Amino acid sequence: MRIRSLAVPALLMGIFFLFAISCVKEGPREVGVAPGAPAVDAQTLWSHITQSSPYTSWRLFPGKGKLYKGTVPHGALLTTYVNKGARKALADKTVPLPNGAIIVKENYSPKKELKAITVMYKVAGYNPKGNDWYWAKYTPGGKVLASGSVPMCITCHKGRKVFDYIMTSPGI
Ligand code: HEC
Repeated sequence: MRIRSLAVPALLMGIFFLFAISCVKEGPREVGVAPGAPAVDAQTLWSHITQSSPYTSWRLFPGKGKLYKGTVPHGALLTTYVNKGARKALADKTVPLPNGAIIVKENYSPKKELKAITVMYKVAGYNPKGNDWYWAKYTPGGKVLASGSVPMCITCHKGRKVFDYIMTSPGI
């Protein structure tokens, strides 16, 4: 009789503990890096785009050639590469771009000197308020000049929120 009356509270406590443990285990919300995509870190992203999957072997932004005319604040001349996921979505004019999409833009001076490399990398859940873009700017040698949810990049690019913050748009 006594044992049975203890059974219900014991069961409830057990459920409570399981719930508490599951909460602790969950920890901070994981950022949803796509399979095969780099971790959300400027150095890792640089290694990915220069070594694991060199961006120079990717295709160019649809409808753009090499060294096309750019505007301030980027280079006078630009060459923009897109990885597979980004390329397909851009070619189909489908936004938002899929998780794992990467756009790498080389920024050249009028004399065709490479000055900087700017990157947009889509990571599900990274920054929902900014369409989950991770922004990065590097020197040609890979020194990180800016990275993350960079307000300066977002403030300007959000003028193109309708096309997933992408300024170079194929006719949209
Ligand atoms: C004042 C506005 C402005 C700011 C600030 C800015 N961009 Fe851009 N960005 C542009 C424009 C305009 C283009 C289209 C190419 C062109 O005409 O120069 C562009 C193009 C790009 C592209 C090619 C994909 C696309 O959106 O068309 C990338 C990648 C990029 N910017 C990254 C960055 C990063 C990283 C930063 C911050 C470090 C940044 N941008 C800051 C205006 C801006």
